[in-house]
Amino acid sequence: MALSKINPKETKSWKLLEEHYNNVKDKHLRDWFKEDPNRFNKFSIQLDDLLFDYSKNRIEEKTIELLLQLAEETNLKEAIEKQFTGDKINGTENRAVLHTALRNRDNTPIFVDGEDVMPKVNKVLSQMEKFSNDIISGNWKGYTGKEITDVVNIGIGGSDLGPLMAVEALKHYKTRLNIHFVSNIDGTHIAETLKPLNPETTLFIVASKTFTTQETMINAHTAREWFLKQAKSEAEIAKHFVALSTNEKEVTKFGIDKSNMFEFWDWVGGRYSLWSAIGLSICLGIGFKHYTELLEGGHEIDLHFRKTEFNKNIPVILALLGIWYNNFFNAESVALLPYEQYLHRFAAYFQQGDMESNGKYVDRNGKKVSIQTGPIIWGEPGTNGQHAFYQLIHQGTKLIPCDLLVGANSLNKVSNQHEILVSNFLAQTEALAFGKTEEQVVEELTKQGKTSEEIEALKPYKIFEGNRPTNSIMYNVLSPKLLGKLIAMYEQKIFVQGVIWNIYSFDQWGVELGKQLAVKVQPELANDEEITSHDSSTNGLINAYKKMRE
Ligand code: F6P
Repeated sequence: MALSKINPKETKSWKLLEEHYNNVKDKHLRDWFKEDPNRFNKFSIQLDDLLFDYSKNRIEEKTIELLLQLAEETNLKEAIEKQFTGDKINGTENRAVLHTALRNRDNTPIFVDGEDVMPKVNKVLSQMEKFSNDIISGNWKGYTGKEITDVVNIGIGGSDLGPLMAVEALKHYKTRLNIHFVSNIDGTHIAETLKPLNPETTLFIVASKTFTTQETMINAHTAREWFLKQAKSEAEIAKHFVALSTNEKEVTKFGIDKSNMFEFWDWVGGRYSLWSAIGLSICLGIGFKHYTELLEGGHEIDLHFRKTEFNKNIPVILALLGIWYNNFFNAESVALLPYEQYLHRFAAYFQQGDMESNGKYVDRNGKKVSIQTGPIIWGEPGTNGQHAFYQLIHQGTKLIPCDLLVGANSLNKVSNQHEILVSNFLAQTEALAFGKTEEQVVEELTKQGKTSEEIEALKPYKIFEGNRPTNSIMYNVLSPKLLGKLIAMYEQKIFVQGVIWNIYSFDQWGVELGKQLAVKVQPELANDEEITSHDSSTNGLINAYKKMRE
């Protein structure tokens, strides 16, 4: 059964939210906090080692009440059940959306087309366990009998960003292996990656759901040539190349033996695939046990998401707040700001997760939407971001809701640096919410001994309006399990928003056109003839390129 196709704009709650927005849009967080000393308790959720404080948002109880009503009117509860029970909710591709089955640690049966998928999920997990143990222990030898020291994951998009983000995030739990990632078709990426590596001790993972993606296939062939240049015999490929894919035919065509293939299925979306065989580089990077802890964390969020009342449900509230700013305040972006260096690829990962999922202008009725859908996702770790783009968040003209994430404990105790990091995290959410008033500025400048003329001249620049909304996400410590929770939390947030916006979140037709045109242009670059078949700009660029190239 498909997802319902309700235009959110036509719901009662949407209209009420519009009215409510007009009533509260100018209200300041300073006043909300003054009025209600219990605001933190009211607007925060503790889930084991995860604290989600959303009290520094431009909301009151009525706001949440209406947003929850919107969730109800758009049949969110039913959509969640459909997701977890294998309904074909990816309507344009007629597929189930079951990355949750990959982390279903309870092993309860989940059916797709009448077949319980759990046995095959577990089978691939066992294959990953055995393989990663063999490689890490040195049991598995390269073609000259040496142990593998380096692993190169060749993939792009969902077959790269998730594993790369997780391997970086969990570096503290690193095995003896060095994990590298090659994604870009720019030859520089693979060339620079291979430079320090030895073919005798390098394992290549060709990661591609379709096994037809141009970048991945070309980089994989380059890696193959590089390997064969030294190994000479194709028979040695089996010790150095494995494939992660849903496409057995193409894998075999490439020359990778079926026994070296780790399978997954069409109900795993590319950008949701780190929980599948695509996670093999994570297994090798942190060990299988830690990988299963990551799955466990994802599963715990799934249970929370599926079973908890919406008013205490972290992904639901996170999503509803996003809708509040996106659709009523017309905020165009969301900044993900982890105060955790290990999470330095987190925002980049969720750029694909969110923007490829909800960057859609056609609704589930096949009509152009009449509301804003997915926001622009961006961000860098704190405190680096503070010295780069926070100026605009504090005093620019755009409203940018921010999620700040921090661990109460650091994995690296370096003097008192963690306390300083946490102070910055706290100071930023406080400054963004409450700003600095004219009176405070005058007082400060007076104390500095400025004349009244100087104060008058400087004052406007020193005032911080505040009223900039933030979510604070605090966790105990960055463990594999915790990372699993954070990822699943944002995945389910994206799902909720897609359901309410009445769009299909699990296809990505928008990336096809550029791919098709690139295939058309490539042969036109093969010689020096003048090109006239495109528009004047594209012709001009092609012809200029032909003149400039050596
Ligand atoms: O960029 C489009 C896309 O299809 C992504 O959704 C996907 O993650 C990526 O390409 C890689 O695809 P594949 O895993 O099939 O190589």
